Amino acid sequence: MRSPIQLQEKFRARFGTPAAIYRAPGRVNLIGEHTDYNDGFVLPAAIEFYCWVAAASRADRKLVIHSENFNETVEANLSSISALNKNHWGNYPLGVADKLQAAGKRLNGQSLLISGDVPLGAGLSSSAAIEVAAGFALLKQSGCNINRAELAQLCQKAENEFVGARCGIMDQFIACYGRASFVILLDCRSLDFQSAQLPPGVQLVICNTMVRHELASSEYNRRRAECEEGVRALRMVLPDIRALRDVTITQLENHCALLNPTVYSRCRHVITENDRTQEAFRALYSSNLGAFGRLMRDSHRSLRDDYEVSCKELDLMVEIASAQPGMIGSRMTGGGFGGCTINLVEAAAVDAFRQSVVAKYHAQTGLKPEIYVSPAADGVQQVDIKAGGAMHGPAS
Ligand code: GLA
Repeated sequence: MRSPIQLQEKFRARFGTPAAIYRAPGRVNLIGEHTDYNDGFVLPAAIEFYCWVAAASRADRKLVIHSENFNETVEANLSSISALNKNHWGNYPLGVADKLQAAGKRLNGQSLLISGDVPLGAGLSSSAAIEVAAGFALLKQSGCNINRAELAQLCQKAENEFVGARCGIMDQFIACYGRASFVILLDCRSLDFQSAQLPPGVQLVICNTMVRHELASSEYNRRRAECEEGVRALRMVLPDIRALRDVTITQLENHCALLNPTVYSRCRHVITENDRTQEAFRALYSSNLGAFGRLMRDSHRSLRDDYEVSCKELDLMVEIASAQPGMIGSRMTGGGFGGCTINLVEAAAVDAFRQSVVAKYHAQTGLKPEIYVSPAADGVQQVDIKAGGAMHGPAS
């Protein structure tokens, strides 16, 4: 983990003033995939990988933002923020500043130094981490009250409209509301949530396949469109539904003739995944890890066969992991087409799990996977530099 003191020293060397330090976490989703944009349920945890932001107010109305990861500085005037080239990292903080202002927040000019340790492009939400860290820092530095739900929504809006990725609310929400040792069951329609503690003796083990398929964003948008098509068709007979969240599996089966086979399969994934996610939360709550593991397995199969967002490397990683001693459950996590799997593993078995998975995956693919073991972490916060630790931001 990067030290906040080091970051402050780098800030002083670049901008000549002391800085306040903020950080927001990446995330891993235990179950509930491709359900958030269908008004459904997700079960993520924040992880101990962060986007760090050092910030100090400026006398002018500028945002001057330096990225350590890209070794590049961007500048914008708060009264006229426009997007940079597509895929530019600067669009994340600039987009958030733009949406905060559009929502009536009066921001001051700021110098920001951004440094992230969430693996990029691995499906662990480095983008939500930078959005939420930057948004929280800008609000705090400008003396604005922080409402975490509103911050999550404005960061999502920035990603949808400024960056141009049609993501749901899950990643930004958990970056705001993560809680150490807890997973969060989020209702993506009402934004109500409940938390459940991960049992002691069980660890979250994330296996990075080290592949990223180019198709990810176009296929993501296509899946969203297929879900919308399903809702439109089903509304002819179920006029009250607003999203796939409102459809039961029996209703889907009864009206399957209205849907083409692909749209039917997509809907079946979303509807069964919503059920699995709520059931998984109950299983975790009652410490029924056997049931939780089976639901993770079923989720992976549904994502592979019905939603078709897995790939051969993710399937292989799940297959290898599932055969290891101490394994509770394994599935792909995040948008898919590469990235990571999430594994619940008994703590005592984690070292052997790591060695065996790395060796077997490498032998079959030639790729060296990265394995991250992380406790569930807290959401965005300001870091207290003097104490060298972290302190919570306002709990609003
Ligand atoms: C990406 C998106 C999320 C969610 C997942 C799939 O991570 O950013 O909003 O849709 O894919 O569950």
